Amino acid sequence: MAQLWGGRFTKETDRDVYLFNASINFDKRLYLQDIEGSIAHAIMLEKQGILTLEEKDAIVKGLSTIRSGLEEGTLEITDQYEDIHSFVEATLTAMIGEAGKKLHTGRSRNDQVALDMKMYVRAEIIEIDHLVMEFQKILLRIMEENLDAYMPGFTHLQKAQPVTLAHHFGAYFEMLRRDRSRLDDIYKRMNYCPLGAGALAGTTYHLDRGYTASMLGFESPTLNSMDSVSDRDYVIELLSALSTIMMHLSRFSEEIILWNSNEYGFVEIDDAYSTGSSIMPQKKNPDIAELVRGKTGRVYGDLMGMLTTMKGLPLAYNKDMQEDKEGTFDAIDTVKECVTMFMQMVDTMKFNKDVMRRSATRGFTNATDAADYLVKHGMAFRDAHSVIGQLVLTCIEKNKSIEEMTIEELKEISDVFEPDLYEEVSMETCVEKRLTTGAPGISAMRNVIAEYHNYLKA
Ligand code: ARG
Repeated sequence: MAQLWGGRFTKETDRDVYLFNASINFDKRLYLQDIEGSIAHAIMLEKQGILTLEEKDAIVKGLSTIRSGLEEGTLEITDQYEDIHSFVEATLTAMIGEAGKKLHTGRSRNDQVALDMKMYVRAEIIEIDHLVMEFQKILLRIMEENLDAYMPGFTHLQKAQPVTLAHHFGAYFEMLRRDRSRLDDIYKRMNYCPLGAGALAGTTYHLDRGYTASMLGFESPTLNSMDSVSDRDYVIELLSALSTIMMHLSRFSEEIILWNSNEYGFVEIDDAYSTGSSIMPQKKNPDIAELVRGKTGRVYGDLMGMLTTMKGLPLAYNKDMQEDKEGTFDAIDTVKECVTMFMQMVDTMKFNKDVMRRSATRGFTNATDAADYLVKHGMAFRDAHSVIGQLVLTCIEKNKSIEEMTIEELKEISDVFEPDLYEEVSMETCVEKRLTTGAPGISAMRNVIAEYHNYLKA
């Protein structure tokens, strides 16, 4: 039990209390940030004349040795320390002696942990953004290959109007674009350095906070020391952005599960990304998509947990805030794993384009276009809607699609119909006529895809 604060106590901490209080088992993940922050702090202390050059050099060298020791596995973080900050300081002092004890001058674990957590979150934002971009590249490839792969678009899970696979996947591309811009916003908003806020009220040492902030890649120092040590907004914002990413993946999962079902048969998940049943030999299950959908609940839980932990906290630091770590780490790990698995599954998935196309032709997805045909021949849309309703009913009785009806059969319903209707309600026309920005028509899609290429390059 190695603690930084034994002085005013006359008794040892109860063993169970010590373990209950300790965070080393999870905050050891922050070792790199803790070391980098400490190096910057020591360099600044020397620049300000608070440490001597020799002390600073010994500290920086010692901290670097700890970092390489941990990376090479020659040094191990054990739970005999209360948290990562205690581990680093105690190990440093054991290594270099007196100078090690001076590292904490003008600093508290409160601003230290706020710094470590911010630096960790910042690095993860970049990694997650990168992963999501990789997924976007896969989607864009599939879009380009499927500009004319017709399929039904749905509303209420009922076939509505024909679209293309490119257009459908484009919707997810957009969701991921917003996800990335949210991450970018969070990064910008949080990128202010809390180091130097001390326990809560700054410090009487003459620190140069601007110097440490810029050394550590922050925009500038934070402007209120109490807020600096008690702000976990960026954690909540990250968890919220991660929850939204998971919500998007979960909706996508749901569609792939449906599309991969025997009933739909739109896609086939690659053998390497599906699993079998222990009893039913015919089964090939979409477990990855199901797990991603399921894990969404965990990430939502991490967000709710953090919001609830923070809601009653008076200023400034409270130990409750130590609870920010496990949920955040869990959400970050979960999202990274899910995005990786999910995009690989999508990348290797087979699309049954003929099945999709047949599905679009069988579901009266061209009924709106048939009504539009009548409107173009002078009929009011409301009347046209009703005529096509009757036509659909007749088609259902005859088990035919609109384009399979003979011209005589069509004329029985309305004499406005002429043979040029067939061309007007063909799948190609239905999609290709839709050329408004954001619509599925090929040339409209090509414009959007060109924009996406520029966006991915930026
Ligand atoms: N392990 C603590 C945390 O994660 C570090 C800060 C401790 N500060 C304190 N005053 N007890 O929040």
